[in-house]
Amino acid sequence: MIAKRHPVLVTGIRPADHRAMNSSIPYPAHVAALKPYVPGLPISAVAARSGLAADRIVKLASNENPLGASPRALAALSSAGIDLSRYPDSDCAALSDAIARFHDVPREWIVVGAGSESVLGNVAACLLEPGRSTSYAQYSFQAYVNAVQKLGAHSTVVASPDFTVDLEGLAGSILPSTSLVYVANPGNPTGTAVDPDALKSFLGRVPPHVVVLLDEAYVEFLPPDRRGDSVAWVREHANLVVTRTFSKAYGLAGLRVGYGIAQPGLADVMRRVRSPFTISEPAQVAAIAALEDQDFIARTVAATRQGRTALVEGLASMDCQCLESHTNFVLADVKGGADFARRLEQHGLIVRPVASYGLADWVRISIGTQPEIDRLLEVAGAGQPARG
Ligand SMILES: Cc1ncc(COP(=O)(O)O)c(C=O)c1O
Repeated sequence: MIAKRHPVLVTGIRPADHRAMNSSIPYPAHVAALKPYVPGLPISAVAARSGLAADRIVKLASNENPLGASPRALAALSSAGIDLSRYPDSDCAALSDAIARFHDVPREWIVVGAGSESVLGNVAACLLEPGRSTSYAQYSFQAYVNAVQKLGAHSTVVASPDFTVDLEGLAGSILPSTSLVYVANPGNPTGTAVDPDALKSFLGRVPPHVVVLLDEAYVEFLPPDRRGDSVAWVREHANLVVTRTFSKAYGLAGLRVGYGIAQPGLADVMRRVRSPFTISEPAQVAAIAALEDQDFIARTVAATRQGRTALVEGLASMDCQCLESHTNFVLADVKGGADFARRLEQHGLIVRPVASYGLADWVRISIGTQPEIDRLLEVAGAGQPARG
């Protein structure tokens, strides 16, 4: 049943792209309807376009760690003596052990992937087929859309009128055909978080045959009082998988490592579905060391909080409001995201327009170092009409 107060915005699959459909290759309609994922612009592309040297470009478009990679991970990589002629350990045994110890769960509960994006897709592949459907909130991470669409399944998108996940609406959107619900906490591109008690009670309302994927890519940035014990929830719910990543707080986006935590039944199916050998040996070695680098995580979180306050205050002084963020980025209403991003790009600053989410006035800006934030505010302020 669909809750009336919380309208479902979209249900179904996207219409096919007829250029692809007219090809002599008979692509399935749901494949022809796929759109490529659009990432933040790479530094090299902006350097080529702007004529600026690559080291003058500041990328604040993909929520990476401005402090760099975990120092322990870098040290482990340089001393590991990895033999690149060998396949990596497909089962990621040592890394799975380390993650299991970190969360105090059995190793069988851990499924590692090449970034948590691959784990999100892997869970979809375990559950979806044409005729089945998935629910998620408006303004959810764009990778969910493609993960669902490429399997020919339907998406039900629940409105987020206040930019936070409407858990009541999401529970109400579950249909007999629903197999999977995605919830990101905190969310991307909004940066907003839901109340942990509300999330816990939502999990209790989801029927046991519907899997909930709780995407915690930014969990390290949540203040302790806003953080639920998601691993304890996995112990209570055989239909819950929690995903985490080494790409954000740990600073290892370039190595592609993420993982899911689920009870053995679901985890076993995820292991059967995933591709072998996708997590390289350097990635496994670095991730093990990064997990031990909790000092680096604490430094990252503290620097992010400080930088975020400076950025939000600076933007507010230009009449650009930000949503309350619990992540390493902010979503800012700059009254024209594409123009703002273009103007910044001319000065070597890359931010992320979000018109593809239906937010044409907004941009998403990752929290950089203090000098990077100062530079962004200076360039953004220079384009403002004089006040007073
Ligand atoms: C909400 C969310 N989930 C998952 C991911 C995937 O990250 P990765 O594949 O690097 O682990 C991202 C990346 O930006 C994200 O924003």
